[in-house]
Amino acid sequence: MDRRETVLIIDFGAQYSQLIARRVREAGVYSMVLPHDVSPDRVRDIAPKGIILSGGPSNVLDADAPGCDPALFAMGIPVLGICYGAQLMTHMLGGEVAPAPKPEYGKQTMRVTGDSPLLAGVASPSVIWMSHTIYIKRPAEGFSVTAETDTCPVTVCEDADRGLYGVQFHPEVVHTKCGTTILRNFLYDVCHCAGTWTMSGFMEKQIEAIRAEVGDKRVICALSGGVDSSVAAALVYRAIGQNLTCIFVDHGLLRKNEGDMVESVFKDKFKMDFIRVNCEERYLAKLAGVSDPETKRKIIGHEFIDVFTETAADLPDVSYLLQGTIYPDVIESGTGKNAAVIKSHHNVGGLPDHVPFTLLEPLRDLFKDEVRALGEVLGLDHELVWRQPFPGPGLAIRILGEVTAEKLAILREADFVFRDEIAKAGLDSEIWQYFAVLPGTRSVGVMGDERTYDYTIGLRAVTSVDGMTADWARIPHEVLERISTRMVNEVAHVNRVVYDITAKPPSTIEWE
Ligand code: XMP
Repeated sequence: MDRRETVLIIDFGAQYSQLIARRVREAGVYSMVLPHDVSPDRVRDIAPKGIILSGGPSNVLDADAPGCDPALFAMGIPVLGICYGAQLMTHMLGGEVAPAPKPEYGKQTMRVTGDSPLLAGVASPSVIWMSHTIYIKRPAEGFSVTAETDTCPVTVCEDADRGLYGVQFHPEVVHTKCGTTILRNFLYDVCHCAGTWTMSGFMEKQIEAIRAEVGDKRVICALSGGVDSSVAAALVYRAIGQNLTCIFVDHGLLRKNEGDMVESVFKDKFKMDFIRVNCEERYLAKLAGVSDPETKRKIIGHEFIDVFTETAADLPDVSYLLQGTIYPDVIESGTGKNAAVIKSHHNVGGLPDHVPFTLLEPLRDLFKDEVRALGEVLGLDHELVWRQPFPGPGLAIRILGEVTAEKLAILREADFVFRDEIAKAGLDSEIWQYFAVLPGTRSVGVMGDERTYDYTIGLRAVTSVDGMTADWARIPHEVLERISTRMVNEVAHVNRVVYDITAKPPSTIEWE
């Protein structure tokens, strides 16, 4: 049983549960997200230093509102309820929760009115971020009120003797100026955490665990060139060296120079046992005449698995398959969704249920930004680790309709120019994802004295936090002008460049 210092986040369906978990980890304490109906036995097993009840979209007063086992409040483990979590704790412990006379959304001003370990070092007044229509009218017995706003008399309440704390606002969002202070107060002064969660500590422990598990058996890894599989490979290589074989299926749908970059990092720099399977032609043959986006995705996914299993079959004595599964893929949420919602495009794109290997998933406890941090600790290039998201089916879903070698070549060059100019303008860390698209339409142009009839390139650049929603990036006109001029001059068969100014929703980020 892993007894690392843990704080539990009990999820009531909040959009912010994962954010709370990340904030706790940023403060140096390992956190786990569990659904609201987690059993007290499971909690005892984990023996957390503290419990945080998340917010959530439900109304505590509804009969079918999600609850939690009341035993959680009597285990002697400190509890911090946030928004819905605070209301639920109050309701379950006999206080009064009611519709707020004036719902509060957005920034509010909080005044500290009492002594509280949770609010130590918090300025009064202080800006906090609220989002609620229900409020705590009267705290439960034994609780005192330690902060208020003009319209929310119980903004913070606590029963310090029992270690129970409730905040009506969201300390996890950046708009709450004192949020980090409050979370750190809870972790260090209330829960007495030691703060042992660091990436280098995690790396050392995982290396030991991998060595203990794998011994001298062989592990294979399907490298896609993406961040997760790259970091997983670098970690396992650190643990078992040449007993790891990486199979890099290069489907020929990567960006310019990308396949070579992956090869140079893993084969030349790390000196891994590395097999690159070049199969652009095989993919193009399978994709010939296919224009439906989902069919293209399916073909690419199946082909990947076929190439990988064919290559793996030639390797003797393979016992383990390394996968870059990360925490958001396995998290069980408070709304009843669970690991079954893993996106089909994750990792090896849906390997068959029964593979003749034991799965090795050393990143399954990490959030994406922690995976990147681990990558840096492992010595992977900054450029590789901080790359923008790139879809598994690659450029094939950025060429609308049928994929051909000619279109791939045009798109690769155009995309390269776009990325180069964005980097030169210093915008690469501001824009979440930016790429070129080849819609396949041709239009009339004039170059020199010649009439042309050539392809249009679409530019897509978005700002986003998680890819679920996105806005189009406001790239300065001068930069767009440079991109357009270079593209038309440098990329053969391009005579027009357009900029996509739709948000998601209603559009998606990718065009297919
Ligand atoms: P959309 O286009 O759905 O994209 O707004 C959201 C995010 O997901 C990526 N994406 C994919 N990633 N396989 C992947 O691995 C796919 O089939 C796929 N489709 C979209 C997209 O690049 C964006 O980051």
